[in-house]
Amino acid sequence: MTTALTGVNPLLDPADRRVPVIPGPCGLVVFGVTGDLARRKLLPALYDLSNRGLLPAGFAITGFARREQTTEDFIRQTHSAVASAARTPFRQRVWEQLAGQMRYVAGDVADPAAYGRLKEAVEQADTTQGTGGNRAFYLSLPPASFPLVCHHLAASGLATPSDPAAAAAPVTAPGGPWRRVIVEKPFGRDLASAKALDATLAQAFPPEAVFRIDHYLGKETVRNIVVCRFANQIFEPLWNSTYIDHVQITQAEDLGVGARAGYYNGIGATRDVLQNHLLQLLALVAMERPASFTAADLRLEKERVLAAVELDGPVEQATARGQYTAGWQGNLKVRGYLEEDGIPADSATDTFGALKLAVKTPRWEGTPFYLRTGKRLGRRVTEIALVARRPATGCPPGLDTPYQGANAIVFRIQPDEGMTLRIGAKVPETTMEVRDVTMDFAFGHAFTEALPDAYERLLLDVLLGNDPLFPQANEVYQAWRVIDQVESYWAASGQPPEPYPAGTWGPAGATALMARDKRVWRRP
Ligand code: BG6
Repeated sequence: MTTALTGVNPLLDPADRRVPVIPGPCGLVVFGVTGDLARRKLLPALYDLSNRGLLPAGFAITGFARREQTTEDFIRQTHSAVASAARTPFRQRVWEQLAGQMRYVAGDVADPAAYGRLKEAVEQADTTQGTGGNRAFYLSLPPASFPLVCHHLAASGLATPSDPAAAAAPVTAPGGPWRRVIVEKPFGRDLASAKALDATLAQAFPPEAVFRIDHYLGKETVRNIVVCRFANQIFEPLWNSTYIDHVQITQAEDLGVGARAGYYNGIGATRDVLQNHLLQLLALVAMERPASFTAADLRLEKERVLAAVELDGPVEQATARGQYTAGWQGNLKVRGYLEEDGIPADSATDTFGALKLAVKTPRWEGTPFYLRTGKRLGRRVTEIALVARRPATGCPPGLDTPYQGANAIVFRIQPDEGMTLRIGAKVPETTMEVRDVTMDFAFGHAFTEALPDAYERLLLDVLLGNDPLFPQANEVYQAWRVIDQVESYWAASGQPPEPYPAGTWGPAGATALMARDKRVWRRP
């Protein structure tokens, strides 16, 4: 009889199978640790993991950034990030342990000497914190600096494990220390640069050691899409173009570009969100049933469906883009994009993007997918709505009002996480009047368990060496294939994006895109 060394004991009671898995000893090096992402997400997520007892005792965080400051300053900065953005309650004992695992190195990513200092700090952490020499590097940096950083990581020896074969091995595996690299999206700015970036990363890390972050895949509500589709029997018969008229995927934000001008300008909404988050959501909704829920099988189906995605119509008719102008966000008067700090007055960066896509598979032939994303829209909401066809013959005669509504299945990704089924129901006190009502499932009501932040899940997975939630190179390439033709059309047009006032739902072109098909965007 053989005994598996890892995995979940099938004899355990299901409640006990949830015993969390804790990574082995390791260290995390965060490049760009003084930036917005680290402050708002990464550092609070590390605290939350520590608070949940999910970080190993042998753990170290090494922050690297240009700002000249000491480790004490870095600890203070992290304390305020944790105080303002951590999800779990503040506990002094947990904080003190985490603070004791932190160190900071100031340096420029272009300066070879800085990597020497970083190596020294990391090796010191290996000894004092007992990390076992295992390291993950988080590149929370402008994408343009990735090639340079990879080059220096390789040249300084920081990226080279003593046993290269162990580079991507799970920490439970025997063998030498591992190295992993976490790359933030967008991965490249088009297909060619994504391939070039992979080639650069390959100089320092084997493909299995590269973790491309798309934080949407770490959200519980996004992971629920696949569970909901394939663990239930009632949805599959409806999940096709016979019953679904069209699909709308919306990611709307009420906030503007904020302090992220340096990153955002020149990238824009379509590359920042649509190319990655929204196309990944489309893949999860549109893919076929995987042979199993292993990383390899899931990816195979996602990649297949992404390869079948095309713009649905000529570029000028299947796309819309916009840029917010001054307006009102609730009671707050807000500036336009071109007046934001750090944005050039003639910037042509899109803060809104919408696409009409076709998924060329037998399941979806004839069902368009409309995707939109934007900043400074009516409110913050992300949802996927599968809108059902209306009956070809209409409602049976005898109803007081002919029923006009369309049934819909809606995944509420955030906020108010859950699902909605929209149906028509009889209005009480009328003979036969029909009105739209909703049946709601809310995570907050159905479960006592909390919803961890996506970065908690993803950081933990990197340290564990679990990669099912990280897009693979081919998924990213397929997404760029679609986006490249849109971006190059927009760039060649020489036209600026269409203006839309802050607080509205985007430019007139987006409404027109739907109107051409006699449809309307949902008001989530
Ligand atoms: C990030 C984008 O990936 O996602 C940001 O870079 C955007 O511009 C953010 O604001 C939205 O994430 P969420 O989880 O708040 O929807």
